[in-house]
Amino acid sequence: MAGRSFTDAVRERLGDVGWLDRSEIDAALVDFRGVFTGEAIGMARPSSTAEVSDVVRLAVEHDVAIVTQGGNTGLSGGAVPAAPTANDDRPRVILSLTRMREIEDVNVDRGTITAQAGVTIEALQQRAADVGRLFAPDWGARGSATLGGAVSTNAGGINVVKHGNMREHVLGLEVVMADGRVWDGLRSLPKDNSGFDLKQLFISGEGTIGIVTRAVVTIHPRPAAQRVAFASLRSLDALNDLMTLARTSTPGALSAIELIPEVGVAQVVERFGVQRPLESIAEWYVLVRYDSAGEPVDPGDDLTSLLTDAMSCDLISDGVVASTPAQEANLWLMRDELTATRSFGGFGVKYDLAIPPDRIAEFLRAAEALVDTIVDDALSFAFGHVGDGNLHFTVLTPDRDDGPLEAAAPVLRAALDGLVWEFDGTISAEHGLGRELRDRIVGQKSEVELDLMRSIKHALDPDDRLNPGVMLPSAPLPGVMLPSAPLPGAHHS
Ligand code: MLT
Ligand code: ZN
Repeated sequence: MAGRSFTDAVRERLGDVGWLDRSEIDAALVDFRGVFTGEAIGMARPSSTAEVSDVVRLAVEHDVAIVTQGGNTGLSGGAVPAAPTANDDRPRVILSLTRMREIEDVNVDRGTITAQAGVTIEALQQRAADVGRLFAPDWGARGSATLGGAVSTNAGGINVVKHGNMREHVLGLEVVMADGRVWDGLRSLPKDNSGFDLKQLFISGEGTIGIVTRAVVTIHPRPAAQRVAFASLRSLDALNDLMTLARTSTPGALSAIELIPEVGVAQVVERFGVQRPLESIAEWYVLVRYDSAGEPVDPGDDLTSLLTDAMSCDLISDGVVASTPAQEANLWLMRDELTATRSFGGFGVKYDLAIPPDRIAEFLRAAEALVDTIVDDALSFAFGHVGDGNLHFTVLTPDRDDGPLEAAAPVLRAALDGLVWEFDGTISAEHGLGRELRDRIVGQKSEVELDLMRSIKHALDPDDRLNPGVMLPSAPLPGVMLPSAPLPGAHHS
């Protein structure tokens, strides 16, 4: 059996430490939320790029498909191998880079870190802090998410409003291709116009066209100080003006702005011991962080002025600037734990969408109205990185049977997807497409764009060996150009 001899060959090449049998990898066959499950014959754990390359060559030889997995805290099912199907019964192997966790170089003069792909985001943040610098990408799963996973999904998070996505942090990559060749693109130049910028294909490529093994990423000067404020929005309609004020009141200071619903605050206060930051209750709040680059060192005064101005313009009804590290930690705990509120009440319809930030209030009103026409008494709420227009929008039916919501989910998703596109938005802002959205994205992308995506996949992975069933729409077959007639449901002409 192909799977068996492949296993022996990998064991021989990597040693016992480099291979885990099927019986040892249950946790890797389901994502951390338990939404996506799959199958694999085992897990290869190479310790170097050369070993990754050899595993890929063995997979080619034995016709095994490869699913690369980072921290397994992705939210779109992009790193859990789908079980073989009638159309594709090749065995799957998980490729884990957990033994490739070395931070190889920190270059303060260039403002770069070079690291292997299995290192965690938190470890990179810590190493940058150790030399007085900031590695800016940040989100709740920082302790588990890996550099390779973050690059492959072009992960975002709370600091994007100031520093950009992972894409804006990657200067160079090393990638093992689907035939085992190694592309050494580990450059550290901010400017390099010597042809196609190939690294951009692998950033957000979700492991479908190559395996990212090392990266050169940028670090920034650390802000001299940061302060966080929490304020009650007068109404959601005030959000856009508040965002404009937060950007302009102290130019360059804004480093995070997050929308937080009372529905979420009530849950995290009850379940995670978060302290309510304000006594007054509002429907919506914002968390705003200001950085200071130098003098005045403390941005607290600027934040206080922002709140005062926002109050006098009637944009907020209450607000507080955290004045101790414990108060700040409480606010960030509240924010980090919001993600768990999306799973309370069982089944939920969940979005990681983005729309132009100035249309958020309008969109949320339209989305709630749409949900009401499809599901009775559903609870819709959103939180997230509103500075980027990125909303984690959720529909739940807590405290009651979630069967009707689950039954209505296909219709609800189709209607909400359409609404997002009507608002010139995307149904995947920062979590990637994975297995969850690969087919739904067909409605968002033009025929030309889908053709280009398939052509790239076919050129770089003609045997569909890397992460099959992820990111690219399921039909037509990989590498087959689409007919010129528009796809059903295609949004663009
Ligand atoms: C977040 O911002 O908390 C994450 O993207 C996770 C989520 O969407 O739940
Ligand atoms: Zn997020």
